[in-house]
Amino acid sequence: MAEAKKTVLILGGSSEIARATALTFAQGRWTVRLAGRSHRELQREADDISVRTGRTLTIHQLDVLDHGSFVAFVDALPDLPDVVISVVGLLGEQPRAEIDLHHARKIMRTNYEGPALILSLFAERFAGRGHGVIVGISSVAGDRGRGSKYFYASAKAGLTAFLSGLRNRLAINSGIHVMTIKPGFVRTRMTEHTQLPPILTAAPIEVGEAVLKGLNRRRDVIYVRSLWFFVMLVIRLMPERIFKRLKL
Ligand SMILES: NC(=O)c1ccc[n+]([C@@H]2O[C@H](COP(=O)([O-])OP(=O)(O)OC[C@H]3O[C@@H](n4cnc5c(N)ncnc54)[C@H](OP(=O)(O)O)[C@@H]3O)[C@@H](O)[C@H]2O)c1
Repeated sequence: MAEAKKTVLILGGSSEIARATALTFAQGRWTVRLAGRSHRELQREADDISVRTGRTLTIHQLDVLDHGSFVAFVDALPDLPDVVISVVGLLGEQPRAEIDLHHARKIMRTNYEGPALILSLFAERFAGRGHGVIVGISSVAGDRGRGSKYFYASAKAGLTAFLSGLRNRLAINSGIHVMTIKPGFVRTRMTEHTQLPPILTAAPIEVGEAVLKGLNRRRDVIYVRSLWFFVMLVIRLMPERIFKRLKL
């Protein structure tokens, strides 16, 4: 078998979007490393992709809410990856978050604080080396807060702003590229109880393919289904006095 191309590390490796992304990269002969909380889930996924692609994946323990463990986590990796992708997220339950501050805090920390801090650490390591790509899976939900999920949306807005700022800081002469992915609706366990319009709903594999294609084209921000760009443009431009009355 030919030499592997490069190394990608996927944080939140047990999610369906991560699984599809890992498969896409493994099929492209990348060395794939999966990080997450559940050793068993990650091992099962690594074995499955390994059987399908003939590549060996490695798995690594990571809880993004435990920021004290981040330096040891990065130091223990077999190498500093060429690309790091954060797929970590938690939709949570908006009605519960409105009355349960612990749940609200967990949604906010899982979607913003954890991913932003670990990606920040990778940014500094990549800067020391002189190259690397940082990819954050954010959400169209972060483009404008809505009543039905504003804890999740505001945290994703924070992640989107963080990635934008990091990209801006590292745009010139750093060798580091920062990419923001806004998947729109994706059919996964996160959305399994939600009715989704097919035209706006991607399969997890579309996200994986969009990440790889975006990497090759050095894209900055990607709406996986481009229709979402126009949908969110309309939503963003809507005057607040109208927007606040809509049940979205
Ligand atoms: N599905 C959609 O429609 C959609 C749309 C836009 C954006 N997204 C984003 O896409 C990403 C993946 O979502 P998904 O739909 O595939 O949902 P998912 O299966 O629930 O994925 C969430 C991932 O985050 C991981 N995670 C949660 N808390 C963590 C922590 N403290 N430390 C480490 N990992 C943690 C989960 O690991 P465990 O298995 O250990 O829980 C899981 O791998 C999320 O960032 C989500 O916000 C999804």
